[in-house]
Amino acid sequence: MRRKIVAGNWKMNKTPSEAVKLVEMLKPLVANEEVDVVFCVPAIDIIPVVEACKGSNIKVGAENMYYEESGAYTGEIAPAMLVDAGVEYVVLGHSERREYFGETDAMINKKVLKAIEHKITPILCCGETLEQREQGVTMDFIRQQVKIALQNVAAADAANVVIAYEPIWAIGTGKTATTEQAQEVCAEIRKCIAEVYDDATAAAIRIQYGGSVNAKTAPDLFAQADIDGGLVGGASLKEDFGAIVNYK
Ligand code: PGA
Repeated sequence: MRRKIVAGNWKMNKTPSEAVKLVEMLKPLVANEEVDVVFCVPAIDIIPVVEACKGSNIKVGAENMYYEESGAYTGEIAPAMLVDAGVEYVVLGHSERREYFGETDAMINKKVLKAIEHKITPILCCGETLEQREQGVTMDFIRQQVKIALQNVAAADAANVVIAYEPIWAIGTGKTATTEQAQEVCAEIRKCIAEVYDDATAAAIRIQYGGSVNAKTAPDLFAQADIDGGLVGGASLKEDFGAIVNYK
């Protein structure tokens, strides 16, 4: 049985002091030992959030990471820095990073490999635009994103990657994909993993849905056979996140 994983993606929200307040508010609400709970927070919030989460069930994630070890990359954050700060997960290839910061599939592949090397679990994002969905190329596009991002990743490592399917048209729009649409793509991703690797890897890998998940939509979404939790943006900054974690 795959363990559900519910991750909050805070995006560019919360100063360090606000972040600690939010953690204190959410901590009792997300105290559910049956689900993996992750707060993916802005880089500057990582250290105080790790401190605030000590002794709780909350794991801390970063929202991005660079693929080099160290050196002349002004403004970037190295994997070893994240590990040293107590980070266990990293969101990679979010559509906002792809769209606004020019991240390509090839760069995301390098980041995935580097995160694995440092034993940070990647939350690898993929998702189609509305135009692609209307053109009927969703599955081809998602398969391409996933295959390139996982190039040269060994099966044993791929099994521990978390994939987040986030249709771009559903992010921050209040337009959640229907449970059928979400399940259909997540099942296709699992099929793709079985083809690239094997059935055991496909059965082990966790696939989240993301895009306007809220306390109302989470129960149905997370009950789908191939949906193993969610990557939650807006609702992760509110009390709602507690209800999403306790979706059952
Ligand atoms: P949203 O964001 O829940 O606000 O739609 C999800 C995400 O971008 O990860």
